[in-house]
Amino acid sequence: MKVGIDAISFYTPAMYLSMEQLAKARNEDPNKYLIGIGQQEQSVVPNTQDVVTMAANAAEQIINDDNRAKIDLVIFGTESGIDNSKSAAIYLQTLLELSPRTRAFETKQACYGATAGLQMARDYVQLHPDKQALVIGADVARYGLNTPGEVTQGGGAVAMIVSANPRIISFDGNSAFYSKDIMDFWRPLHTTEAIVDGHYSNDVYVNFFKETWNQYQQITDLSIADLSAMIFHLPYPKMGIKGLRAVLPEATPDKQAELKTAFSFGSMYNKRVGNLYTGSLYLSLLSLIDNDDHLKVGDTVGLFSYGSGAQGEFFTGQVEAGFFDANRKQRMQTMLNSRRQLSVPEYESIFNSWPKIKAGDLILSVSDDDAKFVFAGVKDDQRQYLNRK
Ligand code: COA
Repeated sequence: MKVGIDAISFYTPAMYLSMEQLAKARNEDPNKYLIGIGQQEQSVVPNTQDVVTMAANAAEQIINDDNRAKIDLVIFGTESGIDNSKSAAIYLQTLLELSPRTRAFETKQACYGATAGLQMARDYVQLHPDKQALVIGADVARYGLNTPGEVTQGGGAVAMIVSANPRIISFDGNSAFYSKDIMDFWRPLHTTEAIVDGHYSNDVYVNFFKETWNQYQQITDLSIADLSAMIFHLPYPKMGIKGLRAVLPEATPDKQAELKTAFSFGSMYNKRVGNLYTGSLYLSLLSLIDNDDHLKVGDTVGLFSYGSGAQGEFFTGQVEAGFFDANRKQRMQTMLNSRRQLSVPEYESIFNSWPKIKAGDLILSVSDDDAKFVFAGVKDDQRQYLNRK
C-alpha cells in the first residue's frame, strides 16, 4: 500500500519586501541578493500572524468533511513556537475544529521539524491506513535589521495531509539520516532572532547532504540517473544550488540539465517568499509540482531536509497521478501576486513591532490583516486567536 502526501497547501502573509530595494537600502549590490543569494522577494510577517494562525490559514484550504473524519494525528513542526510548554498543534486543532480524539503535538529540530512529522505520519498511516494525519511546517524567520542574515528572512506555513493511496507523492519508507552536535544556527530562549554562523552552516549543509545521499544510495541501489528532480531545504535558493552542484558530476550532461531545470522550477516560490525554516523543503515541493511541466506520474523525486544543530535526512518520493491541480496553482499565484509591496521603512517598522519576549497583556489591532485566522494579542498570559469568517 502506498502512503504519502494527499494534499498540500501554503499560506504567507499579504506583504512583501523587494530584495532589490533592501540591497539598495543596505548599500549592497542588488546582484548580491538577486544572484549571489538567489532571492527576489521576502514575505513580511505582521504581528497579527504567528505560527498558529499561519498554519490555520494554510490548513483550512485542504481540510474537508472527508479528511476531517479521518485525521487523528496533528504534528506541528516549528522552531518559532509560541509557548515553552503547550504545543501549537493544540491551538491549531481547536481553530480547525478537528476531532478531540486526536494526538496533537509539536516537533522541534530547527528546520527539520516538519520532516520528522512527515516521517512519523507516514509510518502511522502505514499501520492505520483508514486514518490520516495533518503535518505542518510553520515559521517566522527573523535574523534582525542590518544583519547578514536579513536577506534570508521570510515566513509562512505549509500544511500537508498524509494518507493511504495519496494523490500527490508517495514515500516507500527508505530514508538516510545523520545528526551531529554543531553550532551553526540556534535561538536562545531570551530572543526572537536567530544566531547564525552562515558560512559554516553552508559547509555543514553540503556535507550532510553528501553524507545522506551516499548512505541512501547504499541502502537502495538508486543512483542519480533514477531521479527526475532533487529538491532541498532552501533557507535561500543559493544554498540548495550548492548542494545540487556537489553531486552533479555523478550525472550525465542530459541528467545534469534535467536536474538543474527541475531545481529552478522547485525554487520559484521560495525565491518570492524567503525562508520558511521548517516549511522550506515542502514549499519547494509545491513549487515543483505546480510549475515543472516535465514532471510525470511515476517520476522519482529526491528530497533533502536539513535542520541546523544539526540533522540531515535524504529520502525519495514517487509522483502520483493527482500531483497537478490547476486550482491549487491558481490560488498560489493569486496569493503571491496580490501581496502588497512594502517600502524599506514600512518593513522596518513592522519588523520592530514584533512582540517582545516579556510579561504583560498585549492588544493588537487586527483591522489591517485580512486573513481568516489572526492573533489578537495576549490576555492574562493567554494568547488570543480569532477565526473571523
Ligand atoms: N553579484 C553576484 N553575486 C555576488 C555579488 C554580486 N555583486 N556579491 C556577492 N555575491 C555572492 C558571493 O560570491 C556569495 O556567493 P557564494 O555563496 O556562492 O560564495 C554570495 O553572493 C553571498 O555573499 P557573502 O559575501 O557570502 O554574503 P554574506 O557574508 O553577507 O552572507 C549568508 C550570506 C547567506 C551566509 C547570510 O545571509 C546568512 O548567514 N544567512 C543565514 C543563513 C542560514 O539561515 N543558515 C542556516 C539555516 S540552514
